[in-house]
Amino acid sequence: MLRTHTCGELRANHVGQTVALCGWIDSYRDHSGVLFVDLRDRYGKTQVVFAPEGGKENLELAKTLRSEFVILAVGHVAKRPEGTINPKLGTGEIEVRVEKLTILNKSLTPPFQPTSPDLPGEDIRLKYRYVDLRRPDMQRTILLRNRMIKIMRDYFDAHGFIDVETPVLGRSTPEGARDYLVPSRVNQGAFYALPQSPQLYKQILMIAGYDRYIQVARCFRDEDLRADRQPEFTQLDLEMSFITAEDIIGEIDGLVARMAKEILGLEVSLPLKRMTYDEAMERFGHDAPDLRFGMELTDLTDIAQESEFKIFRGAAESGGRVRCINAKGAADRYSRKNIDELTDFIKEDFGAQGLAWFKVEADGKLASPIAKNFSAELLEKIKRRMDAAAGDFLLIVADKFEITCKALYALRKRLAAELKLYDPKQMHFSWIVEFPMFAYDEEGKCWAAMHHPFTSPRPQDREMLSTDPGKCRAVAYDLVINGSEAGGGTIRIHDQQLQQQVFDLLGITREQARERFGFLLDALQYGAPPHGGIALGIDRLVMLFGGLDNIRDCIAFPKTQRATDLMTGAPGAVDPKQLRELGIQSTRDK
Ligand code: AMO
Repeated sequence: MLRTHTCGELRANHVGQTVALCGWIDSYRDHSGVLFVDLRDRYGKTQVVFAPEGGKENLELAKTLRSEFVILAVGHVAKRPEGTINPKLGTGEIEVRVEKLTILNKSLTPPFQPTSPDLPGEDIRLKYRYVDLRRPDMQRTILLRNRMIKIMRDYFDAHGFIDVETPVLGRSTPEGARDYLVPSRVNQGAFYALPQSPQLYKQILMIAGYDRYIQVARCFRDEDLRADRQPEFTQLDLEMSFITAEDIIGEIDGLVARMAKEILGLEVSLPLKRMTYDEAMERFGHDAPDLRFGMELTDLTDIAQESEFKIFRGAAESGGRVRCINAKGAADRYSRKNIDELTDFIKEDFGAQGLAWFKVEADGKLASPIAKNFSAELLEKIKRRMDAAAGDFLLIVADKFEITCKALYALRKRLAAELKLYDPKQMHFSWIVEFPMFAYDEEGKCWAAMHHPFTSPRPQDREMLSTDPGKCRAVAYDLVINGSEAGGGTIRIHDQQLQQQVFDLLGITREQARERFGFLLDALQYGAPPHGGIALGIDRLVMLFGGLDNIRDCIAFPKTQRATDLMTGAPGAVDPKQLRELGIQSTRDK
């Protein structure tokens, strides 16, 4: 080891010892011929001092030091003079008086200072990720990630799970995104698909008898990226045999409580609360609702039907819904201009036809440009239903059910943030259960799997597969944290016939099923135990536990929104020879 201590380690009890420190130059100041340098590594900072007593040669060399140079400083630990103690720094009571300086490496002027509060744009941070990763915030997150994965591994090890790695070069798994494909040189014209998840392999592992499996698994999905999505991300993947959904939920409950306690010092009471999908859509308009605050969606369709207001009546009479949220006490916060912005927001982003609103005035009257369309009695009904008091702001969307869900969910989220209705440090964990098996795809005019096609229907709903698939509910459960889907899983189909019936319903022909999942269908005939599992999004968990709002900050080397790596330049062009070997020609070259 070149060093005896890290830059975060030395304390008053080390005074008098000779030490060797290594690190990066964080800052330097020249005070009348004495040079004070803050030396930094990922453990902290230590003040190292170059004075004439340490030798003229050292001092002269020290004068050439610049930001981010890497040095080895050997010297003795001294107590800082009275008045210069820095209580904010762990090492703030001492300094190291250097007797021998070695410059291990120079640095170009960095594009930004790792410890400066002024952050450059994200592009610069990603291009110079090695400098960015030196930032204390990034280091905290990377360490948090390491700790969370360690807790997961320890927890599942103690619960008798084994870690099995599954291939990265495999066959396509249907998780709903596009695949990343890898051409085969040996089998020209054939492609591997990078796994969207280890779903099929872990099911096969259950059939093979490895009844408690976990894996920290890399997944790849070529989908539109958002703040909480990366093309390459990591799951804590789990599968169990001879269990019910309760067992899986119970395991994850325990893990969540452990992580909350060890990382945030929070006591979480178990079992975590559960809500059905239908209830979540009704009360919050979304299957991953943020339950840190209220402002629930309330139905006004019956009242709207009685009104003279055409848009409301029209929506109600054509099978749509009229739904409302009450932003309590927020009437004064939203001017006409703000309301126009909210209207544009839900029109442009969520296809809503418009936004109706009422403000409750000091005398209790409901004021709105549309108020004249409602009798005093109806207005009173709205007020009562919405529990509205003076100063409240009611926002109403009348539309197809799905659009009212999307628009009001978005408004609820936006208003809650603007009105600071929750403490960003607060954590709320819950389960959403009983998802529909299928969603109807209007464009393709067919059923699509809500989770994936290996999900089991609830036993009591099995009959409905042939009579009313839309009503059929799955044994599916999502872990929701602060309005983010942190994980999702299901009990699987372990019966080959039932699996075939679901494929049929999804419009997957027998040939396609054989071609794509033949190995699973075969395996299901060789003694498949009842099984199920779940996958947690590790990047998202780190984001949520770290109080961050961007998944890119939770990954050492993330991709941009355009799925590029600004540091390495991936994806990049390849040598034409490589393409020829693969038997591939790009249409771009033509
Ligand atoms: P699912 O597709 O719901 O389930 O994924 C599980 C969890 O993985 C995280 N996640 C992502 N994180 C970052 N970027 C992405 N692009 C991304 N996509 C998903 C989410 C999500 O809840 N095989 C099933 C699991 C199972 O049934 O066992 C699956 O992958 O947090």
